[in-house]
Amino acid sequence: MSVYSRIVGTGSYLPPRRLSNADLVAELAAKGVETSDEWIVERTGIGARHFAATGVFSSDLAFEACKQALSAAQLGPQDIDLVIVATSTPDMVFPSTACILQHKLAQLSPQAMGIAGSPAFDVQAVCAGFIYALSVADAMLRAGNAKRALVVGAEVFSRLLDFNDRTTCVLFGDGAGAVVLEASEQPGILATDIHADGKHVGLLCVPGHVQGGEILGDPVLKMDGQGVFKLAVGVLEDTARAVLAKAGLQDSDLDWLVPHQANIRIIQSTAKKLKLSLDKVLLTVADHGNTSAASIPLALDKGVRGGQIQPGQLVMLEGVGGGFAWGSVLLRY
Ligand code: UT7
Repeated sequence: MSVYSRIVGTGSYLPPRRLSNADLVAELAAKGVETSDEWIVERTGIGARHFAATGVFSSDLAFEACKQALSAAQLGPQDIDLVIVATSTPDMVFPSTACILQHKLAQLSPQAMGIAGSPAFDVQAVCAGFIYALSVADAMLRAGNAKRALVVGAEVFSRLLDFNDRTTCVLFGDGAGAVVLEASEQPGILATDIHADGKHVGLLCVPGHVQGGEILGDPVLKMDGQGVFKLAVGVLEDTARAVLAKAGLQDSDLDWLVPHQANIRIIQSTAKKLKLSLDKVLLTVADHGNTSAASIPLALDKGVRGGQIQPGQLVMLEGVGGGFAWGSVLLRY
């Protein structure tokens, strides 16, 4: 049994269609929906987002991110014995996006077929999904139930947006991020901390469901922005303190914060509470907005590929979203 699991490769993918705030503002104006670049930047820090083309699904974005992560780890699909995908926008109601992804990876080459038979499942914790998925993978690897996992956050959140609702449609985008997590004697993930409180279901939800071949209810994203904001700021500080305490470390030990990228003001608030300057925070919110479960691995990959995150550094990942669900992971990169 290994003491730790550690990240040995990262990858990410954004679909090519990029809409700057100006592009989106113009598209919305044509529909009679009024917003502005100034409002979006000032209230959220978002400058652009990427939208997947029709017919492109979460598994397609995940597939591209996984190929990058595997290549960074100098591994192939056949080396993977666990696949976990965090998503709230699965390709189908069932089977899981993880199963679809596993099969796409298996088809890469005759050798890659070795990934078939590995357990593959989705985790649904909305914007905290990647934190949940990484926590589950870490526990399975440390228990000896797998040796190498692909842990993925992948979303086509644009499919859930009501483009007549300016309070939500300017905030979200599509993308995917992935890591290869390996059982190891060397740290590694040091501590994880995940929570949920279902009494807040109505604050952020997509209340539609499928019944008898029809979608009933309202299958678009609903959010009480201010309610989410207030709750997010509080629980993110709590989970940051909890995960540091579990590892016997302090905020001053942190080299990097890789937060969920929903709103620059929430990120600034967390950084301030942890006494971290913003140059110790990986930021992607300006480049592609809130990609839900994909946002943390997208930011992590940016930090790794950009050379900011260096081996041995202490990194905190944290996220919060619908459920309410939230949590954090503390790791030595
Ligand atoms: O990933 C899951 C986690 N999600 C989040 O963390 C989101 C958390 N919430 C937020 O990020 C912010 O609450 C929002 C960005 C959603 C909203 O910012 P806010 O500063 O809380 O704005 P608000 O809801 O208080 O709205 C202020 C004003 C309102 O107008 P009045 O009532 O003051 O006249 C809104 O109607 O801004 C108006 N407004 C807009 N105006 C132009 C709302 N959306 C827009 C828009 N363009 N897109």
